[in-house]
Amino acid sequence: MTTANNTRFNAEALSWDTNPDVLLATTLAHKAYLSHLPPPPTLSTYNVLDLGCGTGLLSLALAPSVRSLTAVDAADGMIAALQSKLASPSNPIKNVHPVCTLLTDPDDPLLALDPATQTPVPNRRFDLVVSHLVLHHIPDLPPLFQTIHGCLAPGGRVMVTDFEDFGPGARQFHPEAKMDGVERHGIRREEIRRVLEEAGFVDVKVETAFEMAKKVETEPGSGVMGPEVVFPFLICEGTRR
Ligand SMILES: C[S@@+](CC[C@H](N)C(=O)[O-])C[C@H]1O[C@@H](n2cnc3c(N)ncnc32)[C@H](O)[C@@H]1O
Repeated sequence: MTTANNTRFNAEALSWDTNPDVLLATTLAHKAYLSHLPPPPTLSTYNVLDLGCGTGLLSLALAPSVRSLTAVDAADGMIAALQSKLASPSNPIKNVHPVCTLLTDPDDPLLALDPATQTPVPNRRFDLVVSHLVLHHIPDLPPLFQTIHGCLAPGGRVMVTDFEDFGPGARQFHPEAKMDGVERHGIRREEIRRVLEEAGFVDVKVETAFEMAKKVETEPGSGVMGPEVVFPFLICEGTRR
């Protein structure tokens, strides 16, 4: 990730949860993840890593369904927002551990704490890695998927969601003023499939997860939000042997 990204996400952290597009995308992604995951009691045994968790919208939605959830983000502003939600007296969720790190190493000692028991487990591995709306900020995808592969236990699965690069119209997903840190205008089916396979994943599937209508700028750079465009989102899955 780049410094531009970190600066941008720290600046956006406080208002992140007030963006209706972000909230809707999370709700739809959560539903898509659950429909691709085994039901409880299997799901209730999963130790999950949410990579690029932001303020924890998806982490907190998934947490009641799983054993533990380690929520990782490189932007300390995002992690501070999640910590403050977890510290709220009205928060019932106790199995989420927020971690501020730019994750590049599966053996990062910050991942060791088991949120369910609050004890460290060196070289901890996960049953599931999720990541939502993150890939379009990543300049080089193969190292990220190698890290994710390394974070999984044998038989563990990756499931990532992001909007699809369906052609030139995909650029409209972000207003021109918010292009800082946007490394690609969505993800491409064949590229992501190849990256997953080259990282060592098997049973790779890339499918449309949902579609989301979003207002876009009337003219690029106008700052005036006008017509709605429907953006397809992909869910990309693979299993570690
Ligand atoms: C667009 S935000 C999405 C946040 C959240 N998933 C959501 O949907 O609300 C992308 C986040 O990914 C984080 N990120 C990107 N690469 C990362 C990495 N390698 N390790 C940790 N965080 C990362 C950024 O800091 C940023 O907060």
